[in-house]
Parts: sequence; C-alpha cells; structure tokens
Amino acid sequence: MPSQECSNGSQPLQHAGRELWNGFVICEFGCAAILEVPVFGSATIVRTRTTDLARTIAPEPSRVSRPRQPRRGGSIRAGRAGIGPLIRLFAVEGRGRRYARRTAVGSGSDRRSVRKMRTMRSVVADTLGEPSEVLHLQTRPVPEPGPGQVRIRVAAAPVHASDLHTIRGRYGFTPEFPTVPGIESVGVIDELGSGTDDLTVGQRVVTVGVRATWQEYVVADAERVLPVPDGMSNSTAAQILSNPLTAVILTGDELDVRPGEWLLQTAAGSTVGQSVIQLGAHAGFKTLNVVRRRSAVEDILALGGTAVICTEDEDLRERVADITGHDGVSKAIDCVSGQVGADVSRALEPHGELVVYGALSTHRQTDPDKLTIPIFARSLIYETKTVRGFWLFRWFIETPKDRMAAAIDRTLQLADSGALRVPEGQPILVEKFSEAVYLAEAPAHGGKPLLVFEP
Ligand SMILES: NC(=O)c1ccc[n+]([C@@H]2O[C@H](COP(=O)([O-])OP(=O)(O)OC[C@H]3O[C@@H](n4cnc5c(N)ncnc54)[C@H](OP(=O)(O)O)[C@@H]3O)[C@@H](O)[C@H]2O)c1
Repeated sequence: MPSQECSNGSQPLQHAGRELWNGFVICEFGCAAILEVPVFGSATIVRTRTTDLARTIAPEPSRVSRPRQPRRGGSIRAGRAGIGPLIRLFAVEGRGRRYARRTAVGSGSDRRSVRKMRTMRSVVADTLGEPSEVLHLQTRPVPEPGPGQVRIRVAAAPVHASDLHTIRGRYGFTPEFPTVPGIESVGVIDELGSGTDDLTVGQRVVTVGVRATWQEYVVADAERVLPVPDGMSNSTAAQILSNPLTAVILTGDELDVRPGEWLLQTAAGSTVGQSVIQLGAHAGFKTLNVVRRRSAVEDILALGGTAVICTEDEDLRERVADITGHDGVSKAIDCVSGQVGADVSRALEPHGELVVYGALSTHRQTDPDKLTIPIFARSLIYETKTVRGFWLFRWFIETPKDRMAAAIDRTLQLADSGALRVPEGQPILVEKFSEAVYLAEAPAHGGKPLLVFEP
C-alpha cells in the first residue's frame, strides 16, 4: 500500500490510500484525493477534495486503530443457473481486490469520470468503535462501474445488529477503516459497465454478498446482483438474503426439520425467528419458540408458532419437557448464546443437535466470561449431543454452487408466493441514520430499520 501526501485541511499528512473509485482514493483518515496513477503503485495526488466532504475526519494518527485483515475473503462469481429464472449459479473466487485493480488504471474513462464527478451520501465508520461515536454521514464521489459491473441506486439498506457488532470489531470479519457498513441492499441499476448484457438500466435488483451498502450508490459485479420479482416490496427485497435465507438454510440443509418434528428456537420474535415460524407452518414442522418478553407471546402464536416459552417468567428446560412430553426435542437453533443457549442444549433429547448462529446476549458484554455458552458437560457427553455453529458468510464461500442457488431460489419463491412474509421494515432517511442504529439493537424494536435515501 503506498503512502502519499494528502492535504487534510491545512495540515499535510502522510496518508495511505484505502479504497479507489475511478481515480479517487479515500485515505485512511477519510480524505478524498484524486490520483492519476494506480493505488497499488506509487501514486501522485493531483488534487484533493476534502473541502467537498460534508465532514472531514482528521484524528491524530495515534488515535486510528489498525484492525487486522479479515481472515477469509472471497468474491462470488456467477453464471446463469438452470434451476430458476431468478437465480445465478455461484462460484467462489479467491480473495482480492479485483474491482480496485480494474479501476486503478488511471485510464481515459477514469479521467472522464473525474471531470463529471457527482457526489452521494454515505454512512461511514471512521474507525473501530461504538457505532454512535464513530459513524457519520459523508459526501463521497459517486462510483463508476468497471467492466463486468453495474451501479445501483440504492433504495433501501437494512441496519442489522450484526452490522453494529462489525463496527465494534466483534464480528466474524473486521473491515478496513474507514468503512461503509452494510451487507444488503435493494435498488435500481442506473449504469452498466461493459460486458453486462444480461442486465438493464432501470432493473430492480438485490445485491448478494456485497458489502458497503449504507450509501446512495453501490457498484457491484454483475454476477452479484439478482433481479427482484415484480410483486416484491423494497422492504422485503432489502432483507431477503440475510435473515429469511438463514431461516431456510437452518431448517433445510442444516437440520433437515421434517413434518411433525419439533424445532426449538430462541429469539423467536427476530426476523430469522419469524421466518422459521412461517416455514414451520408451511412445511408442517412444530416450532417451540423461546422469547424474553411476555408481551411477545401473542404475536408468536398469531404468526403460527406451535408453542411459546417466555424466559421472563418460565424455566426453559422445565417448559420444554412439559410441552413436548414423550416426543422431546432433538433439533434446535439458537442466536442468544450465554445461559439461554446452554439451557437449550441441556433441554435436548439424547443425540440432539443444536446449531448456534448468533450471540445476542454477548453483544454489549466485555467480560470474557459473558461471551460463552456454558454447556453442561455431562449432558453433552453422555447424551451424545452435537453443538455446532452456522455463519452465512462462510456458507456463501464454502457451499457447492447448486445447493447455494437452490436455497436462494427457494427463499425468493417462498417470499414471492406469500408463504414467507418478511416483517415490514422501518424506512429511515439516511440523514437520520443514528435513529436506525439505535433501533437496530433496541428492545422490542419491531420491523428492521431500513436506510433510505429519498423521503
Ligand atoms: N449466523 C448467521 O449467518 C446469521 C444470519 C442472519 C442472522 N443472524 C443472527 O440472527 C440473530 C437475529 O437477527 P435478526 O436480524 O433476525 O434480529 P432482529 O430482527 O433484530 O430481532 C432481534 C430479536 O432478538 C431478541 N433479543 C435481542 N437480544 C436478546 C437477548 N439478549 N436475549 C434474548 N433475546 C434477545 C429481540 O427480542 P425483543 O423483541 O424482546 O427485543 C428480538 O426479538 C442475530 O444474532 C443475528 O446476528 C446470524
């Protein structure tokens, strides 16, 4: 990574370029600079644009943390799959910065785009830390799509608790900072790079495994976008490829929950939990739903949940035994961890399987003892149970392409048919992103906060 002079206000500093948009480098302290040669070679700044930024970040160099690189990376390449009109077939490609390399050539098109530069609103985390302290709205250049890429004008991008976990450096990967958070979006293609004949300007699409979606425009490889069915709302489309897809995978490929079987799940009121309940009603398996608030119980039953346990005033293990009787429960999913996850594992029948896919009870904890699932050893060993993890990002990287395409296709079809209704999100204008960030982790927050860019 080259280091070069970057004029930040009146103080010239040595900054290193981090992200490139057609000749623009955003340095690690948040300044935008126009370069005339590649970021991966030695670069010369010909002009700086810090004065164009809504807010310039210039912390002392010592304040800036240097998080480690993500351990895993990978981009997803796709072609057309034969199994459905909406689905492309995914194949994993090695890690790398194909886009950055492709656009870092200082070519004629780069210079043309510099001349007609437009700006957009982005939510940026300038460094690792508490989201309420490190996030701010920034004006950045609108990115240009390179060959094989499209530019999407984002209509909605969800704010998940896991996005905040990422900004705190507690998630499965840590991005380079400054970073634009966000892992999902829906929008309309507004510009095509060369070689993107399958797609058209004006087409509504969702992004698949594309990060940095909390901004007005996103550039994505063409194979990382999927057309949205006409009848699907932006609210549903914006959320479909994280939580509902996770519910489909957990109940399908991961645990193969059969009609008539019980599935025990925690945080049943979450978006994943609500999807699981509807999948149970659709496929004929019974859901035993754990919630932490008594006021949530009626909603879970109204949605089709078979039974509910409320940890506010009930003992989880006793109630599992009461409700399931002789049948018992041998399959469970948990996204709370801590004592709740441990109680779930203990409540399972011999040979039972627990898939842990979240750790909501640990999100704000700093005490290492609170970041665990204190499994009861005797129950695990002598009842030969299995406890294992699931992470969608790893699934995207490691799953055979035909199975990946089938799960995505099934999720879209279930939503399109109405069998799976994704709870309506709460649109929040990007200028009020702090409200969305607060809501994402607030108790009883209701629908998912969705960043939108137009009232
Ligand atoms: N591993 C993966 O690949 C993957 C993929 C998708 C999602 N996830 C995980 O799935 C979980 C749910 O995500 P989501 O977006 O569906 O959630 P969400 O819609 O934001 O809802 C969060 C739910 O969790 C409950 N909750 C929060 N903290 C809790 C705690 N300490 N104890 C018990 N319940 C708690 C809330 O209960 P109240 O209603 O009472 O506030 C609410 O019902 C998250 O952990 C997320 O990271 C994992």
